[in-house]
Amino acid sequence: MDNVFKGRSLTVIEDFSIEERRYFFQKVRILKDAIISGDEKTMDEFRINDPDFGIYEVFLEDSTRTKESFRNAAKFHHAKVSELLCSSSSINKGESYADTFNMLSGYSNSIFIVRSKVEGLCRWLDDESELYTKRNNLPFKRAFINAGDGKHEHPTQELLDEFTFLEDNGMNFDSIHVALVGDLYHGRTVHSKADGLKLFNKVKVDLIAPPELAMPENYLEKMRNNGFEVREFASIEDYLQSSDVAKMWYFTRPQLERMGERILQKQEFLRKSITFRKEFIPMLPEGTKFYHPLPRHKEHPTIPTFLDNTSLNGWERQAINGMYCRMVLLSLIAGKIGADFVPTETGKKEDDDEEYIISVPVSTVKKSDKNYSEGVRPITDGIVIDHICRGETPSEIRNHMRLISNVLGLDESKGGEWVSCGSDGSYKGIIFRPGDYTLSRKDLKRLASVAPHCTLNIIKGGKVEAKYRTHMPPRIYNFEDLSCNNEACISHPVNGEGVPAMFHRTPEGTFECAYCGKTHTFKEIWKSRR
Ligand code: NCD
Repeated sequence: MDNVFKGRSLTVIEDFSIEERRYFFQKVRILKDAIISGDEKTMDEFRINDPDFGIYEVFLEDSTRTKESFRNAAKFHHAKVSELLCSSSSINKGESYADTFNMLSGYSNSIFIVRSKVEGLCRWLDDESELYTKRNNLPFKRAFINAGDGKHEHPTQELLDEFTFLEDNGMNFDSIHVALVGDLYHGRTVHSKADGLKLFNKVKVDLIAPPELAMPENYLEKMRNNGFEVREFASIEDYLQSSDVAKMWYFTRPQLERMGERILQKQEFLRKSITFRKEFIPMLPEGTKFYHPLPRHKEHPTIPTFLDNTSLNGWERQAINGMYCRMVLLSLIAGKIGADFVPTETGKKEDDDEEYIISVPVSTVKKSDKNYSEGVRPITDGIVIDHICRGETPSEIRNHMRLISNVLGLDESKGGEWVSCGSDGSYKGIIFRPGDYTLSRKDLKRLASVAPHCTLNIIKGGKVEAKYRTHMPPRIYNFEDLSCNNEACISHPVNGEGVPAMFHRTPEGTFECAYCGKTHTFKEIWKSRR
């Protein structure tokens, strides 16, 4: 059996399955105990022990703990540890990330640890590296570890947070009740929790943040879809008035560097609602522990320093655990350990075969006998797209019909668009275009992507020759006029990296960017809409 961890990238926490993470935590437990007790033999079982095995740190954003714990972890392995000095690299001469990282991987480096403001960078590098490896006959593909990408995710922080929670609940996966406090809007460590906490069978999350710093809607939705019980509170004070206060509190820092001027003006007021105060201590349940990914601000810490020497302090051990977790992660990705792991879960469902353009039987009723909506004339040859945006307002429907016409490249000089009102009072749009249209599979996919839940009629010689119903495709990519609308995303055109946009359909029927995870409606993914 192959080692499933060898050469794997960790770009978001979901890249490792729940059972892979549970296996990982067992290994961290073993290595941590071995290091504390000085058990060299066990430590050696984890060590890569190869001075030519290249581990590269590339930190395009500031870091202390993540960078240094990875560096110390890499040194434990007696491997080759390098760092790219970003302020003096050719990235500043306009070189793309793909070129930079491909080059470094050509210099015999196997694992890259990458922090950046650009969201989804590791996912893109992982894709690119595969092609580079093939082009240059390199022996194996490089692995990329996301050490924090903008406001998106921080999967290795998630691993060390989870390990610390497990240490404090006796390594029990049954349930967790945790309060997430602070800047939930900008904090990538709490965003990783939307999938990360799936590790536990039953999850209750209390979110404590003023509206300006509240958890973004897409992560909230993810938590609910993952079956978490979620409650929201605007301040610690409000939370402590509620029943059933959590014993695990995970604080995050207000990320001033990511805030706009408008929010910055209110920083004092916002900070107050998420800063713990002495008078709150008696209101905490017995056995409460506080955690924090750190850093905390020296003048305005949300966990005040007078709590350092109390039993609430879980954050210092949490930061130390970061090194053990990263040692084990490197060992797994290098293939030093992990060969004994046997997966029982089946992989992600392959959705490529799903049919999203359904051919429907053509009605035998002759066109001339039908009642047509006012103004819609039967056409002899052409296409009719019906049921567009059913239930929306006439102006929304008209805007969207313009977009459909644009995206499909329909001839604007002929035919027209119509909004009709059904007997139930709801509106729908109809586009009709006379002409000789032959729609390829790619055209039909574009149609399903921009006009899901519509009907396409192909008219030839006055008869409906074919009729299709469209559904949302599971994936949309390979169209030049698609774009994620998050400017921080690696695939957004403002970043100039030439990354083609790619989206996956979510259970709620939105499209999630494959790089930054931002969700969009089917209308929002097209460049021409903006
Ligand atoms: C966090 C980060 O960079 O996302 N820190 C960390 O990695 N330990 C949190 C933060 O910067 O506030």
